[in-house]
Amino acid sequence: MINSLFGIPIYSDKIILNEKEIFYFLNLEYKKLNQEYGYKTKNNYVLDNDSIKNVKNQVLNHLNIFLFDYLKIKKNVNFKMLNSWCTRYETKANANGHLHSNSLFSGVFYIKVNKFSGQVRFHKNNFWRNLLPKCLDVEFDESNEFNGEYWQTLPEVGDLLLFPSFLEHSTLPNESNEERFCCAFNFYLEGQIGGDMNTLKIKLE
Ligand SMILES: [Fe+2]
Repeated sequence: MINSLFGIPIYSDKIILNEKEIFYFLNLEYKKLNQEYGYKTKNNYVLDNDSIKNVKNQVLNHLNIFLFDYLKIKKNVNFKMLNSWCTRYETKANANGHLHSNSLFSGVFYIKVNKFSGQVRFHKNNFWRNLLPKCLDVEFDESNEFNGEYWQTLPEVGDLLLFPSFLEHSTLPNESNEERFCCAFNFYLEGQIGGDMNTLKIKLE
């Protein structure tokens, strides 16, 4: 038997998107990112549109399962969606490693992808070691949750991932001749935490 200690949780499940909802996301106004072949919506609140509230509700339901059922966060706090945007990656585009600042939990769901659109990869931080120093080139027969430097998955349409915002992630190049669309979002907590002399009340606008 082997136990895994202090693991970083990544929640994955599926949401259902109908044709109208997919049309909404694909036809938003996009602007070029500071990289080749990558675009992002001008709107930073794409999930706040009324026509898409069924999608937002599905995301919120999954967030509750992740945070309250799996992670057992006490329900005296709420998590509020701060922003939501879509990205569009043309052929060859990839997303460099990044994390989501000013946020506690983040997520993404996939709107238009195929098996050549590129995996999403989550990276172990170079300064955080759970096994061996980074400067030691021990070889492994296969990667697992203990020895891996990253974990990646090939998303399908409707796949949803939720993760702590500090976790660095990237996207491998889009090798397909179709554009790749996904929607990302951030959450922060609201409410009262701590007790007696270290109480912290957080209220978001
Ligand atoms: Fe991201």
